Parts: sequence; C-alpha cells; structure tokens
Amino acid sequence: MSSANPIAKDMQVLDALLRENVAPHLQSSISDLRILNLACGQCDEAETLVKFGQAEAQGEVRLIGADIRIREILQARERHAKLPAEFLLEDATKLGAHKQIEADFNMVLLRHQNFWHGPDLWKKIFEQGLEKTGDDGLLVITSYYDQEHQLALAALKELGAELIETKHNLQARKLRKPGKFVDKHIAVLRRK
Ligand SMILES: C[S@@+](CC[C@H](N)C(=O)[O-])C[C@H]1O[C@@H](n2cnc3c(N)ncnc32)[C@H](O)[C@@H]1O
Repeated sequence: MSSANPIAKDMQVLDALLRENVAPHLQSSISDLRILNLACGQCDEAETLVKFGQAEAQGEVRLIGADIRIREILQARERHAKLPAEFLLEDATKLGAHKQIEADFNMVLLRHQNFWHGPDLWKKIFEQGLEKTGDDGLLVITSYYDQEHQLALAALKELGAELIETKHNLQARKLRKPGKFVDKHIAVLRRK
C-alpha cells in the first residue's frame, strides 16, 4: 500500500481496526473512557485513539501514554499538546502504584509490542498492562510480525489473559524488513 502520507493512511487503517475489533468488546454505555498506551514512543496514534474513545464514550476521554525514552515522550507532549492526553516518562515494567496510572483503564494498548527484542522484559510489560485494565477493561496489542504476534499471545495466555479475538490486518503497510508490516496483527484480550 503506498501513499504520500503513509502515517495518515496507517491511522485510517488503525481506526478501522479499533472500530471493527475493539469497539464491540468494550463495556456498553461507558461514561468516561480511559486509555493507557504503554511503550507509546512518540505516539503517532494519539489523535486516532482519542477520536476512537470519543466515539465510544458518553463522557470524557483521557489518554495516558508512557515510554522509557525521554526524546519520544517530549515529542509526544509537543505534538499532542491540544489533546486530552498526557505522556509520562516511565519504565512500563515498574508502574506499580503510580498515581496517574491507576488500575481501571477501559483499554490498555501495546502498539507494535516488541516481544522478540526481550521476552522477559515484555512479559513484565504485559503483566503490568493486564494489571492496569479495569474489571471490564481490554488489553489490545498490535504486532509488526506474524511470529512475534504468536509469541506475544502465548506469553499473555501464560500470564492469565483470555484471548477475545485476533485479526490479521490485510490493509497493513509493508515495511522494508521482510515480513514486517505496520499493525500487521491486532489482538484483543482481557484478564480472566
Ligand atoms: C517498537 S517500539 C513501538 C513504539 C510505538 N508504540 C509505535 O507503535 O510506534 C517499542 C517501544 O517500547 C519502548 N519501551 C521499551 N522498553 C520499555 C519499558 N521498559 N518501559 C516503557 N517503554 C519501553 C521503546 O522505548 C519503544 O518506544
């Protein structure tokens, strides 16, 4: 798939994925909706997430992004200053009892989880993500690669997550590395 502005097109595709695969599993009649985006990088998807939330919630939407890299967090803060969002410099393996990151998110997203680069580290991030989903909350992952997606799902199941659905995104944009695509897979899970 080619486009003059590939990220804008990626966001349209992500928006459709969220509406088709995540929205049907969100708790019905949500008043205020909270989204936690762990390992968010510079959070290209911030506006897409906020608009998705606004379409699903009756009240306010709040997005919290967290990443361990300061440069990405500063970029996210600058780029998305007008959104109802905050971006925190955090090690997502150690969120613990962080005040702004209570355990009641309607949706916790890990976009382009990086399980291959450190299975032990990513298991800890997954564990923290699951802990931060509210009782009816969802954990959503997307993956660049087929095999990495399967490995992440296996790790999440071992951590006690229930797979609600997983979808191969046929509209995903191909990247340079063989087999790597933007949001190639999306999966929706919840705590058992
Ligand atoms: C493949 S990138 C994905 C970034 C973004 N979600 C996206 O889709 O473009 C993986 C991200 O994980 C972040 N990361 C790695 N270890 C982390 C940790 N312990 N806590 C928080 N973020 C971490 C990296 O800084 C990086 O931004």
